[in-house]
Amino acid sequence: MQLTDSIGRNINYLRLSVTDRCNMRCFYCMPKEGVSREEHGTILSYEELLLIAETAVGLGIEKIRITGGEPLVRAGIVGFLANLSAIPGLRHLALTTNGLLLAEMAADLFRAGVQRLNVSIDSLNPDTFRDITRGGDLSRVLAGLDAAEEAGFPPPKINAVIMRGVNDAELLDFAEMTRLRGNSVRFIEYMPVVKDEGWQRYCLSGEEILQRIAANYQLEPVDKGPFAGPSRDFRIAGARGSIGIITAVSGHFCSDCNRIRVTSTGQAKGCLFSDEKTDLLPCLRPPDQERLAEAVRRIVSTKPERHSITGNGYTHRNFTMSQIGG
Ligand code: GTP
Ligand code: 5AD
Ligand code: SF4
Ligand code: SF4
Repeated sequence: MQLTDSIGRNINYLRLSVTDRCNMRCFYCMPKEGVSREEHGTILSYEELLLIAETAVGLGIEKIRITGGEPLVRAGIVGFLANLSAIPGLRHLALTTNGLLLAEMAADLFRAGVQRLNVSIDSLNPDTFRDITRGGDLSRVLAGLDAAEEAGFPPPKINAVIMRGVNDAELLDFAEMTRLRGNSVRFIEYMPVVKDEGWQRYCLSGEEILQRIAANYQLEPVDKGPFAGPSRDFRIAGARGSIGIITAVSGHFCSDCNRIRVTSTGQAKGCLFSDEKTDLLPCLRPPDQERLAEAVRRIVSTKPERHSITGNGYTHRNFTMSQIGG
């Protein structure tokens, strides 16, 4: 079974957010104060999330990435992941985390059947890291990377949102990480999610990031593996890890987009940047798998062709990244 959208893209990747809560408060993701948290009763139960996952896999989804907020702060997440990984037909289960709880949880996550971890690290300098995350402890996250490998995971992929004047002086340090530690690092273009009139001052294109690294290292292109996401990857000769750019704003990976999203409150979205959403709650309370399948097919068939961040004309969206899971 395959899910194909109206312009022929094969949709095989579901990003499923399990919570809007987070134990960090990155300034580009959340406003300092006044983030409205979802009420407890509006967050989907694990049974409901599992029904969505089973239905989506039955329709042609092959990869599920669990996101948040921070997915590891939700109680019972390990048992849920074990149930997810047992869904027949699901070929790849991955999780994106800020890594703060990874040192404690990595072994359980591996046993639960998670195959790959992506960890957000926006700075390798503890002070800058603390500033960006409004209080996060870099040493805990680095301990989490070690614990993940000890538990049996391949080296986690690192996501670094690069912002001019904030952390762009660290590009070469991150590049070195691909040689010294063997992690793959993906540089993400800053996306204007939190309301900030001067957001363009932070913008640094993926192309400029690449040029700055290529001025110091010879980079070889790397082929996309199965289930690849939006990053374009390169390798420094001899390095175990790759260097990728995720050109979320300037780039045009929309033409290869293979994904849909469901938030922790059951709002399904065909595109990260669209305000269009479909409420899955009526298909879940009470559970009606036929209706749910119909809703998933509709999200795919009405998926927008591309996003509409067009520089000056862009208006901020009515969600935070932590609500939608990136
Ligand atoms: P892989 O499956 O390992 O390739 O991961 P991924 O890049 O799909 O997922 P991850 O959760 O690590 O996301 C990395 C960054 O890419 C985040 O900043 C996401 O917001 C961004 N991103 C992921 N999917 C999309 C997308 O469909 N559109 C846009 N614009 N950005 C995306
Ligand atoms: N711009 C770019 N990336 C973002 N993320 C969260 N908010 C933004 C933003 N405004 C990233 C996180 C994490 C991933 C899931 O989304 O850093 O790596
Ligand atoms: Fe939390 Fe990730 Fe948002 Fe940072 S970017 S506040 S770690 S959800
Ligand atoms: Fe897909 Fe929308 Fe992301 Fe483009 S912006 S890659 S269409 S989710």
